[in-house]
Amino acid sequence: MAELTKLESKIAEVLGLAMASQEAADTVRDLFDDDGHELVDVLKTMRQEARETQKRCTAVAGTFDRKKTAILAAAKETKAEAVDMMDTYLEGEEDPLDGFEFLTMAEAGEVGHWLVVSKLNQKAGNAEVTALADWALEVQQRHFQQALDASVLLAGEEDPEEIED
Ligand SMILES: [Fe+2]
Repeated sequence: MAELTKLESKIAEVLGLAMASQEAADTVRDLFDDDGHELVDVLKTMRQEARETQKRCTAVAGTFDRKKTAILAAAKETKAEAVDMMDTYLEGEEDPLDGFEFLTMAEAGEVGHWLVVSKLNQKAGNAEVTALADWALEVQQRHFQQALDASVLLAGEEDPEEIED
């Protein structure tokens, strides 16, 4: 398979993280007993935007000459690793708060990776990557803030004296 440059392999990573994000949104949604909870809507939007991130990354990957297959293969590896991390972290957890604590870490990770893509692309000067990263950074920063806000909201609904099961 074609070798990837640093920039191409970072694009593969953000693509893989966007794929994993959609599974994370589904997993956390399943922790809610009540489908009408306001945070279920937040998760739905986050999922749609992760899907859109995946689409846009895949489109940009297609602009790299003969590299698309290798970028997609690397992205799938990143996705598998991220989903493994989630499964480990959330194993045996049933509380939506734990789900949003995981999302706080995952979204922070996405923000960090997009900043790296942006910085690498400053030298590479690829206009498509600039447009993609500018769009994605804003979305991922909002996701991170939403995960934080949701964690705090859910923590406010917890009884601190309750025995942890
Ligand atoms: Fe995200």
